[in-house]
Amino acid sequence: MDIINWKEALLPYKQATDELYIKLNWIKKEFIELETHSPIELVQTRVKSISSILDKANKKEIALSNIFDEIEDIAGVRITCKFVEDIYKVVQLIRDRDGKDFIIKEEEDYINNTKSSGYRSYHITILYNVIMAEGTKVIPCEIQIRTMAMNFWATIEHSLRYKYNGNMPEHIKQKLEACAEASFKLDTEMGTIRDEIIQTQKIIQTKENLVYKILKNIQNLYYIGKIEKMNEFNKEFIDMYQDADIETLYNFNNKLEIMANLYKINQK
Ligand code: GTP
Ligand code: MG
Repeated sequence: MDIINWKEALLPYKQATDELYIKLNWIKKEFIELETHSPIELVQTRVKSISSILDKANKKEIALSNIFDEIEDIAGVRITCKFVEDIYKVVQLIRDRDGKDFIIKEEEDYINNTKSSGYRSYHITILYNVIMAEGTKVIPCEIQIRTMAMNFWATIEHSLRYKYNGNMPEHIKQKLEACAEASFKLDTEMGTIRDEIIQTQKIIQTKENLVYKILKNIQNLYYIGKIEKMNEFNKEFIDMYQDADIETLYNFNNKLEIMANLYKINQK
């Protein structure tokens, strides 16, 4: 059998994960820019290490010549969400792209069908087209979508599974089951205050944006030489900022915007 040129073979997988990282992060950015709750909290990607690929091939009795046809998680993407509801929003966003920049091959809902280990996550396997210098390659990629609580449990369980190499002591198994139950409860409880949390996040975001605009407007006064006005507004802002609610900040900014119009300051 020919020897595998790993560097060359894994290159399109790296390209696929790099591109997906950018594309999925842009979904997140879009929500944030529009001051709406992003169902995506974090995007992470990885290409399986050579030793993990070999371990998996060995465990599943896959011949070396079939590795790239049969192992579908050499390219991996993990999307972490705050709430369970967000997971299904992300799933929908991915389905909406089906047939556009990738094809969905398979979906596995381990949230409604929790694994016996206690593992919960939503998996989508996609076939992603990578255009390389020498032509196009279709790369399978496993997207795992989970909440932070699910991820916490899965990473801990994964390390323990690795440590005990298939012979996990019964008392550890039981502890992990209890942890899975606790993680499920945390997600359920968090879900009940989802609206409130999203509302608060929105207020923080709006406040940040307003403060940014106010300071920019004050700074613009400096650029057109209205130093006294700038100092006056700056002092007023510092005095009121601590106790100001959104409405007060909004009105204050309006005052600055009117002035900017008056002085024909180009706001960008
Ligand atoms: P393989 O990926 O080849 O095992 O095929 P499969 O589709 O039968 O696997 P499955 O969808 O069950 O799992 C794919 C990936 O999900 C694994 O590589 C892990 O990253 C993760 N996973 C599945 N089950 C567990 C589990 O019990 N614990 C943890 N920590 N992760 C799991
Ligand atoms: Mg799977």
